[in-house]
Amino acid sequence: MSQTQHKIAVVGTGYVGLTSGACLAHLGHLVTCVDVDETKIKSISSGVMPIYEEGLAELVAGGQSSGNLGFTTSLEEAVRDAEFVFLCLPTPPGADGMADISAIRLVVMQLRGLLRPGTIIVNKSTVPVNSTYMVQELINEPSVDVVSNPEFLREGSAVHDFLHPDRIVVGCTNPIAGERVGALYFGTRSPVLVTDPVSAESIKYMANAFLAMKISFVNQAAEYCDSVGADVIEVMKGLSFDPRIGQTFLNPGPGWGGSCFPKDTKALVVSATESGSPMTLIEEAINANLMHIDHITRLITRAAESSRASEPRICLLGLTFKANTDDTRESPALAIHQRLVEHFTNVVVYDPLAKVPESHIFNRVDSLVDAIRDADVVAILTEWSEFAELQPDLVASHMRGDTIIDGRYLLNKQDFAAAGLSVISIGR
Ligand code: UGA
Repeated sequence: MSQTQHKIAVVGTGYVGLTSGACLAHLGHLVTCVDVDETKIKSISSGVMPIYEEGLAELVAGGQSSGNLGFTTSLEEAVRDAEFVFLCLPTPPGADGMADISAIRLVVMQLRGLLRPGTIIVNKSTVPVNSTYMVQELINEPSVDVVSNPEFLREGSAVHDFLHPDRIVVGCTNPIAGERVGALYFGTRSPVLVTDPVSAESIKYMANAFLAMKISFVNQAAEYCDSVGADVIEVMKGLSFDPRIGQTFLNPGPGWGGSCFPKDTKALVVSATESGSPMTLIEEAINANLMHIDHITRLITRAAESSRASEPRICLLGLTFKANTDDTRESPALAIHQRLVEHFTNVVVYDPLAKVPESHIFNRVDSLVDAIRDADVVAILTEWSEFAELQPDLVASHMRGDTIIDGRYLLNKQDFAAAGLSVISIGR
């Protein structure tokens, strides 16, 4: 059986919208992506992606040349013949901590009167519970169904995640509409869970909250291992054989960040408290994360203060919240940098790809070797592969000091010790 081709409009070309549009076109659908940002649409149409996402540029080019993928700034043009309209709009934190859905409201108001009968609106944005019902009321068109279809894409591997999903979650009141949305993903051969809208919306928040809690647990376990003299990597390996715990998301690090976990955990805490069932575990996971970032900062500070230099040079390797993305939103590395420059005058940073907010002032260099040259302390904050490949002799010959804080557990301590360098990781 092959995939039936459907006409789809994707509203919003952020990392979720653009990835979804390009992947749906790759699965054989006829997709038009629309965005109000004319510069962005021009740039994407000419092959320049607004974000770094592995495989995305190739998929967009493939979609354009097959004729399955087009771009426009006209909402009317995009949705005119669409059977499905995907909403992939920003839902930033509002003043109350919950996701602000004003962009969704605005677009849905604009969609009124533009859709042909029987169109299905599919919401992919992360939204507070009951938003699907709210959109259904707002569109006020009995033949138009609204379906929740949360995304589970990781930045850096979003294309892979879209094409090889663990599951497709569809929340609907009309099961026929739900089935039709599930069928769009036929080519991915993944299980489809059709449920009610509020459960689908909750699955998204609970999934991110659970994963954030898991990493907070791992990072606290690393601090515990430090105190008792255990090796956190061995301990997590020991846990990973248990299928109830699982093998992934057990890597200790400098704390979790990104555009999703911090925003979604806070929103869930607010919504849970408002609903009368506070999720105190998630509040604790957030606190533990902040304390862990403090802990890493203290470790770097202590190493710098105990170096012999009067103005120690601290080199931070990595600014993005994880590797294989250019995104620095809510990155622990930014927070650590901010705190260090309040105490030290000589902090240099290197990241191969990071897009840094203009408000943040850095002494940023363009090469790894320039970054480590004359450093008294080197701290690895992102797991970029080039940091994992650092050669002990090269580092030893460029550093002035001898301490490396390996916040991502990339380096082999023995190899570096042989070159006269001390590698410190929490819980090793
Ligand atoms: C996360 C979820 O993993 C996706 O499923 C979800 O769709 C996405 O949020 C979203 O809501 O849109 P993402 O923010 O791209 O994806 O990043 P993750 O790969 O989940 O990493 C989040 C943070 O946890 C990073 O700072 C990362 O370094 C950290 N992390 C992750 C660890 O410290 N250790 C681990 O073992 C895994």
